[in-house]
Amino acid sequence: MGVEVRHEHGQNFYPHPNLPPARGKELKFAAFRRFVVLLAPLRGSTTKAPGKAGGLLLPKEYKMDKHISPVDLQKAYRLINHGPTVLVSARHAGVDNVMAAAWVCALDFAPPKLTVVLDKSSRTRELIEKSAAFVIQVPTVAQLQLTHTVGTLSLSSMPNKLKLAGVELFGIAGHDLPFVAGCSAWLACKLIPEPHNQQVYDLFIGEVVGAWADARVFSNGRWHFEDADPAFRSLHHVAGGNFYATGEPLAVDD
Ligand SMILES: Cc1cc2nc3c(=O)[nH]c(=O)nc-3n(C[C@H](O)[C@H](O)[C@H](O)COP(=O)(O)O)c2cc1C
Repeated sequence: MGVEVRHEHGQNFYPHPNLPPARGKELKFAAFRRFVVLLAPLRGSTTKAPGKAGGLLLPKEYKMDKHISPVDLQKAYRLINHGPTVLVSARHAGVDNVMAAAWVCALDFAPPKLTVVLDKSSRTRELIEKSAAFVIQVPTVAQLQLTHTVGTLSLSSMPNKLKLAGVELFGIAGHDLPFVAGCSAWLACKLIPEPHNQQVYDLFIGEVVGAWADARVFSNGRWHFEDADPAFRSLHHVAGGNFYATGEPLAVDD
């Protein structure tokens, strides 16, 4: 059929349609989403925020978007099982950073674990090595440009990287980590140190200690892109600045 089929869970699949790189109409949602993020402090439950984020000043106290719902840790792997490009964020000694990563994979169910490949040149990797914690989050079509920007600029040479990329961060109580607003899913991870793998293969293993998703696109333990705003679709990296947006669901007959 020539359609790449990606297993999500059970007998449900999402194909990758022959869509052009996600641009155009969907991007109209970007401005709207940024507006929603700016309004976030006025809604939802109150959490303590970190102070400073790589040159980006955050309010001391602010609220989590009301759509963000906890995900059962046993289902956390499903948040990345459809193979999205993700954003990796980390914090150490008052510095926050975010990078893009396409090489991320589920590793285990219980406790849930995942792997991510982090090149030695990335500043985010250094923060993770020092703090032993990170967040994997799933960006949306509306965050196409943001994803590309955090994946091409480095905090090492660009102190205002997050601001340039339009990244807004928020906090979740009990996790001293920077969460990127506007994503569709977030996995808070504790680093399982494996110095050999990290040094030789740039391979980092994380245990997922908290998971959340935007209930408008992931609820009852599964994605439902088909009835969500298309701006929520996940990004799948091809090469350079080219991505696919996730496609239609396919269910296997019983
Ligand atoms: C779509 C995309 C996917 C990427 N995937 C990875 C990856 O899996 N691993 C990695 O080390 N870098 C990856 N990168 C590159 C980093 O995101 C990039 O080096 C970034 O600038 C590092 O930022 P930092 O130095 O501020 O941490 C990717 C970049 C893009 C645009």
